[in-house]
Amino acid sequence: MTKLTVRQKIFVYMGLIILIVGGAHAVTKQVYMESLFDQFQKEEISATYLHASSEEQIEILKIYVSGKMQTFLLGNWVFFIGIGLFVSFLLSGVLTLPLRKLVAAIERVAQGDFDVIVPVQSKDEYGKVIQTFNEMTLRLREAEDARRRLVADVAHELRTPLSIMQLKLENAQQTGQDVPPEMLLRLHDEVIRLGLLVEDLHVLSLAEAGRLSLDCKPLDLSARLEQIVDDVNMEAEENGLDMHFHSNTKPITVMADTRRITQVFINLLTNAIRYTPEGGQISVVMEDKVLDRNAVYTRVSVIDTGIGIPAEELAHLFDRFYRVEKARSRHTGGTGLGLSIAHHLVKAHGGFIRVVSEPDQGTIFAVYLPSGN
Ligand SMILES: Nc1ncnc2c1ncn2[C@@H]1O[C@H](COP(=O)(O)OP(=O)(O)OP(=O)(O)O)[C@@H](O)[C@H]1O
Ligand SMILES: [Mg+2]
Repeated sequence: MTKLTVRQKIFVYMGLIILIVGGAHAVTKQVYMESLFDQFQKEEISATYLHASSEEQIEILKIYVSGKMQTFLLGNWVFFIGIGLFVSFLLSGVLTLPLRKLVAAIERVAQGDFDVIVPVQSKDEYGKVIQTFNEMTLRLREAEDARRRLVADVAHELRTPLSIMQLKLENAQQTGQDVPPEMLLRLHDEVIRLGLLVEDLHVLSLAEAGRLSLDCKPLDLSARLEQIVDDVNMEAEENGLDMHFHSNTKPITVMADTRRITQVFINLLTNAIRYTPEGGQISVVMEDKVLDRNAVYTRVSVIDTGIGIPAEELAHLFDRFYRVEKARSRHTGGTGLGLSIAHHLVKAHGGFIRVVSEPDQGTIFAVYLPSGN
């Protein structure tokens, strides 16, 4: 029965009720009819009956049988309709039991309790609805957890620069002295950091909600990358790093939003600079027409000879606010949003990022963008 749909179950149950009630009614009627003639023989066959003409005898029999049958049929119908209604009432209770459990669970979810799981006990429409409901509450639970984590992370990230600024300002107020320019510089740095954090969070929330609007146009990616490498080269040199760009063909055109794609490579290159010790090398290698799972991509690899990433950390690398523990304690601290944003921006372009890394050897971040032609 658990394999039948609710519609089939109702059909089967109603059919059974009709068969049982109708059958029982017909059988009792038949039995009563037979007993009626015996009864007639005992009660009505008297001298009056025997002396009556045959037409009168038929008339006496007719009146007797129809009188008795009327009372019997009425009683019988009342009895079987009563039984039919009672069984229908029980069955409707059985058939709507999963629905009532579901309604109770929905009411709990409506009150904000997402920890409800309704057991799936049948494979009918109710089973499917309950299964979908359970999946839905699981998604809600995950979204709620993610929201809580995000609020906690954002609060944590905002607290540090805010308390630094508050301390410095309070100090300046209490001493009553003029604020020295270097303190203003530190304060300004913190304000910039806060501004960048808010901007990053904004982009990330748009990207996660799938509402990031891209202004995609044909873009000469080789020329753009040359420019980006040129822009960050000074920072690399300041850190004692050697940086160069190589492409197998030029120009390579892709459909992309210049601003967003620039943001992706700035993030990857800033990471490479940040996590590569002095004397290291950073290369940006661009290849066109790379085949991957039956699709053609333009691949840009950012290769460094830096501290690398342990294998167990790789799975979380693109999670927001995720930082490898070693990097967390370094003074070169970021917020851990860069890769998460890069991942979403590349995904919005129809591409993906792959990472290969070996601790103390270096890291390769390969960005795959759908080939332009
Ligand atoms: N090239 C790299 N070499 C070694 N570790 C890296 C590299 N790129 C990223 N990581 C690790 O991945 C973590 C996440 O990187 P992500 O860019 O998301 O954050 P971040 O650089 O710490 O901060 P943000 O980019 O928001 O300023 C980093 O904290 C670092 O531990
Ligand atoms: Mg970063």
